[in-house]
Amino acid sequence: MFNSKTYIKRREILKKKIGKGIILLLGNNEAPMNYADNTYTYRQDSTFLYYFGIDRAELAAVIDVDENKEIIYGNDFTLDDIVWMGPQPTIKHEAAKSGVKNIGTLNDLEEFCGNAVKQGRKIHFIPQYRYDNIFTLHRILGIMSSRINNFASTELIKAIAEQRYIKSKEEIEEMEKAIEVAYEMQTSAMRFAKPGMTERDVMGFIAGLSMSLGSGLSFPVIFSRHGETLHNHHYDNIFQDGDLVVNDSGAESELHYASDITRTFPVSGKFTLQQMDIYEIVLLANLTGIAEMKPGVNFKTVHLKVAGLITDGMKALGFMKGNTKEIVEAGAHALFFPHGLGHLLGLDVHDMENYGENNIGYDEKQKRSTQFGLKSLRFARPLKPGVVITVEPGIYFIPQLIDKWQKEKKFTEFINYTKVNQYRNFGGIRIEDDVVVTQNGSRVLGKPIPKAIEDVEEVASDKI
Ligand code: GLY
Ligand code: MN
Repeated sequence: MFNSKTYIKRREILKKKIGKGIILLLGNNEAPMNYADNTYTYRQDSTFLYYFGIDRAELAAVIDVDENKEIIYGNDFTLDDIVWMGPQPTIKHEAAKSGVKNIGTLNDLEEFCGNAVKQGRKIHFIPQYRYDNIFTLHRILGIMSSRINNFASTELIKAIAEQRYIKSKEEIEEMEKAIEVAYEMQTSAMRFAKPGMTERDVMGFIAGLSMSLGSGLSFPVIFSRHGETLHNHHYDNIFQDGDLVVNDSGAESELHYASDITRTFPVSGKFTLQQMDIYEIVLLANLTGIAEMKPGVNFKTVHLKVAGLITDGMKALGFMKGNTKEIVEAGAHALFFPHGLGHLLGLDVHDMENYGENNIGYDEKQKRSTQFGLKSLRFARPLKPGVVITVEPGIYFIPQLIDKWQKEKKFTEFINYTKVNQYRNFGGIRIEDDVVVTQNGSRVLGKPIPKAIEDVEEVASDKI
């Protein structure tokens, strides 16, 4: 945990922003894999971590703004529990570390909420993503389970999002610790992967690193010779000489801040000339995206600039033709770059996405596009100092998408399908860094992870 002062200050800011009423925050419970005592790795809710820092299951908290009072609710472990789990801190002890003096049991929470409902007091809560917590809110607030998220407080979402949007120095330090682990995961994968191995061989190795060096993975590893499948989560392919591998993976720091890094490397250690051509475009897109970021610039502008660069690169190689501005406006480049340039990063790998992507990445001034490709941009607001966001351009050859567009004669004025079909088994390339916006520009977090062709080749040829 951070020092209790951090959590006290965060709650003070939130109370001021909300002004009146009650804020109810539920922690996460254990989640059974197949029966109650065999659980998935425990992960505390990120909002709960942000305001209270307590990494323990079966807790809830109330911030009573009217009474200027905070209460942590939970049940102490019994001797029976301790026999199986070993000595455990009391709720009182955990609450004190968070700077909270008042505690109660889970039954007390039910009574508190029951009384508040009877008195007609406003209870703010955020959208829920776990069914047990939806059920808890149904039980203690009397709202139909299926309608809980319709009653989430927009005021609370906006207030928390504005606060978590800007990362403090200590949060950045945590993220850099998570990137140190990602550095090891990336460079070790480059050294370890060889023709004849399965994707699983390498995925298991780097997942193990994330556990031994930090708090484990920040999301399931994407590790595939089929980089054109953006979020490929199956690992059965066998590497062949000449394959490119996309490794999109990240770790959590001890306090659960995330890293999210992508590198693409040749499994045998050397890029082919064809691979180099495409790789150089993606690398330029990554470097330009990072260089374009500064306070006041809208991330959508950066995304569109990068889309233009990818288009220029694909035109130079003969995959596309025509006017770049018209191509990007029409969305034809999305055949190769069908996703957004990046997303917020923090306690969650897609930070705060549980509050609703449009609540976080869009506002009244900036509505989400419905165009294929641009609709997947998760964040389209002006940048501010302290914002941490990923920059992750890519170029992919997705056979099913190519076939569909070609059959529909889509964008034939811009796309040279004959040339594209020569690359239909190419796969994909993505390069992703985690970047903080500074007072007058941006900074890539963590120590540099090889991404220039010669640097990647050097590491990927140095096999272990
Ligand atoms: N690293 C996975 C993603 O950004 O969605
Ligand atoms: Mn990402």
